[in-house]
Amino acid sequence: MILRRMEKRDVPQVAAIERSTFSQPWSENAFLESLTNNYAYFLVAQEQVANSAGDEAAVIVGYVGMYISFEEGEITNVAVAEVLRKNGIGEALIRRLLADAPKLGVTRIVLEVRVSNAPAIRLYEKCGFKEIGIRKGFYDFPKEDGSIMVWESETEQEV
Ligand SMILES: CC(C)(COP(=O)(O)OP(=O)(O)OC[C@H]1O[C@@H](n2cnc3c(N)ncnc32)[C@H](O)[C@@H]1OP(=O)(O)O)[C@@H](O)C(=O)NCCC(=O)NCCS
Repeated sequence: MILRRMEKRDVPQVAAIERSTFSQPWSENAFLESLTNNYAYFLVAQEQVANSAGDEAAVIVGYVGMYISFEEGEITNVAVAEVLRKNGIGEALIRRLLADAPKLGVTRIVLEVRVSNAPAIRLYEKCGFKEIGIRKGFYDFPKEDGSIMVWESETEQEV
């Protein structure tokens, strides 16, 4: 698996995963706009897959996106293709994003997640995010509360 910055050519595959995952998916245009935004940082996970004729093709299997405002990032999207979940792809994407945060000047990352979304909450907790509050009725289709979670980089203590 390769992790790399999202490019324009990835967007149709990314948007297809997005549509099959979320009740209010981002459009292809929304992803394309984010790629021209200097304050957005989007990564994809790519696998090489061989078809029946033996030809290799690059397939996008997951992605994560973050918008940056000064030293704070906000994760806007994370998804892994349904058939490939539970293989470490989501964790690899989040850990790469957190590893890249310092060079982006980001020391704190926030996100919202549906309170019923146990897989995502477990993933974020495993990667060091902590719940700081609940946003009542944040989500629609279906209506649901959002858990606000935050990750903060470990800053060195002054002695
Ligand atoms: C959330 C999501 C991105 C996780 O991706 P993934 O590649 O399946 O996750 P990983 O295999 O890397 O799992 C990493 C950790 O996440 C947690 N996790 C993932 N799937 C889980 C599940 N079904 N149940 C419980 N915990 C789960 C576990 O802590 C896991 O660590 P472990 O394997 O040591 O137990 C994926 O389930 C997904 O695309 N969901 C739909 C989209 C979504 O909900 N996005 C988040 C919106 S805020």
